[in-house]
Amino acid sequence: MHSYPDREKLTRLFAEEVAEFVAKHPASEALHQKASGPLMAGVPMSWMAKWPGPHPIFVQSAKGSRFIDVDGIEYVDFCLGDTGAMVGHSPEESVKAITEQLNKGITFMLPTEDAAIAAKTLADRFGVEKWQFTLTATDANRHILRYARHVTGRSKVIVHDYCYHGTVDETFAVLDENGNTISRENNIGAQVDPSVTTIVVPFNDLAAAEKALATGEVAAMLIEPAMTNIGIVLPESGYLEGLRELCTKYDVILIHDETHTLSEGPGGMTARRKLHPDAVVLGKTIGAGIPAGAFGMTEALSARVQKSLHLEHIDVGGVGGTLAGNALSMAAIRATLTKVLTPEAFIAMEELCTIWTRDVQKLIDRYQAGWQVSQLGCRAEYSFRSTAPRNGREAADADDFELQQYLHLHALNRGILMTPFHNMALMSPAHTEADVKRHTEHFEQALNSLFG
Ligand SMILES: Cc1ncc(COP(=O)(O)O)c(C=O)c1O
Repeated sequence: MHSYPDREKLTRLFAEEVAEFVAKHPASEALHQKASGPLMAGVPMSWMAKWPGPHPIFVQSAKGSRFIDVDGIEYVDFCLGDTGAMVGHSPEESVKAITEQLNKGITFMLPTEDAAIAAKTLADRFGVEKWQFTLTATDANRHILRYARHVTGRSKVIVHDYCYHGTVDETFAVLDENGNTISRENNIGAQVDPSVTTIVVPFNDLAAAEKALATGEVAAMLIEPAMTNIGIVLPESGYLEGLRELCTKYDVILIHDETHTLSEGPGGMTARRKLHPDAVVLGKTIGAGIPAGAFGMTEALSARVQKSLHLEHIDVGGVGGTLAGNALSMAAIRATLTKVLTPEAFIAMEELCTIWTRDVQKLIDRYQAGWQVSQLGCRAEYSFRSTAPRNGREAADADDFELQQYLHLHALNRGILMTPFHNMALMSPAHTEADVKRHTEHFEQALNSLFG
């Protein structure tokens, strides 16, 4: 059952937007045609094909909250590379440090001073003491899961139903209607049946978590403290604290993947909500978009890991990477954390997001669309249901691909980029109230077209 029942009208409205899009983007279309020779689907990475409209727009340049496409159209960017550019495009302080490092050597497989400063900054912010760096959040998740299995001697991982933690094999699992862990739809070329590696539990369900933890087979529980990849699903009071207690009781390593939930502040939800995971994972924006990921461990977990490592075999153990922790990434992370993602910047980003959230919810109510908006610091998202979802399944059931495509294309045609996989808007330090207003104006027009 779709939350927007008039599908004929939706199809007609979408067709009108497609016609406008085509008329406005001859240069992007020509580039896409050219790219479709050597590139699969005309894009360098398959996800870049998942935009509304017949082809993606090609970017000319970007700065701060805005970018310009090859047809000369300027956009307010609320997608921000799906968090990779949450700091805004090319922030000055990051670019300065990155440029300096480019002229001093890019990668050595030797440490630079920046690494220690970046790690100390993260340790102070998140309260976990020992850090390692990777090129992506996916790799950070993979590595900490390996360490967790290594030190516990157990094989399984618990994740939430409809989670997303990057291209990590163990996480492409969901619950079926009988509560069994099964492969997520479209799990491409899975190496094993995920029920061998994984136990899936619903978000906000401590009883289900305890049942899974008590099996004695579990090395780690990998969570986002709030789900952000199936819309936003916020934790109910006591849920995260309850998971901490249970993981301690069953000696299971609790990992907070804060790649997106960093939106709540410099120390993510972990610091803001005074939580105590055994490990924290970060990525995407910490290097302003220069490839960078990180995982931190408590002193106690790090000591367990280190005791079990053999220097002679350390390069063939499945944890690491030739370019991981390279000098360029480390310079980018140091500058971005200390000069761009400052506590003051987070305050301003969240204030702006609160305005976005308030105005979008007001319009939803005025047009009686029956939707709702959830906010997580500087990230907000509307869902096509009237109450906030309690878990991933509820959020997934509210999905409406055609409606989302229409809203996104409507936004794009009015100079606004939303995140392609959700109805999510992210505020960078460079965003302004004028940027928010542009979105509110488009949203009102779109609601009027649907419900007016
Ligand atoms: C919560 C979370 N963790 C990890 C990742 C993986 O990030 P990357 O694709 O940059 O490795 C993502 C990507 O969307 C994510 O949302």
